[in-house]
Amino acid sequence: MPVAGFTFEFAGRSLVLRELSATAADAQQLLDLTNRVAAEGLLGIDSLAACVEEALLFISRSLEHGSILLGLFDGERLIGHLGIDRIAGSESGSSAVDWVAGTPARNTGTLVLFLDKAYRGAGLGYKLLASGCRLAKERGLRRIWAATRSDNQAAIRLYRKLGFRPRLVTPPTSDPLSPPGSPATIYLELEL
Ligand SMILES: CC(C)(COP(=O)(O)OP(=O)(O)OC[C@H]1O[C@@H](n2cnc3c(N)ncnc32)[C@H](O)[C@@H]1OP(=O)(O)O)[C@@H](O)C(=O)NCCC(=O)NCCS
Repeated sequence: MPVAGFTFEFAGRSLVLRELSATAADAQQLLDLTNRVAAEGLLGIDSLAACVEEALLFISRSLEHGSILLGLFDGERLIGHLGIDRIAGSESGSSAVDWVAGTPARNTGTLVLFLDKAYRGAGLGYKLLASGCRLAKERGLRRIWAATRSDNQAAIRLYRKLGFRPRLVTPPTSDPLSPPGSPATIYLELEL
């Protein structure tokens, strides 16, 4: 799939999909977008990083171990992000091995996906996720895991539309998506 330069139409404009790179400009954009969406309480985190240098380190390390980081741009502005974090091996010690009971983590990636509010509900999430899944398969991944709040119907329906199926899980001992008193987390899996 030609990720570089791939475009999606939105409101009469062409949005460009490309892989993020380890540059200060991309790090700043990813930090800003993540902060905007995290402020809505949908991501289970307050921020991606404390500063742009930390965000740059996050991008560098992710790319070094084979993760996929896609950015959807409206002009110069990053308005959507899909990340598929490649889980390193299936050795014990990886928290992800515990994440979905009985499933080895080899060739598995974990998904994050979000758009700025003004761009939701127009089919972009579907296209972004379909592109990300195709790319993940090309890069040798065989399975993607996703986690989201059980009240996040938009995400759950989108994942199911792409073929993700709910999984029974052994909840991680410390789950940032489900601090005490918050909605439960649902875990879904896609075989590529
Ligand atoms: C989840 C998200 C990525 C979906 O992207 P989107 O572009 O809005 O979704 P699409 O327009 O591509 O819709 C695809 C499918 O998702 C589902 N969907 C999307 N928005 C929905 C909503 N508000 N309510 C219910 N289902 C919804 C539908 O099944 C839809 O298919 P349909 O139009 O044929 O019914 C986007 O809403 C978002 O960024 N949300 C905030 C961040 C987030 O929650 N991320 C995921 C959890 S970490």
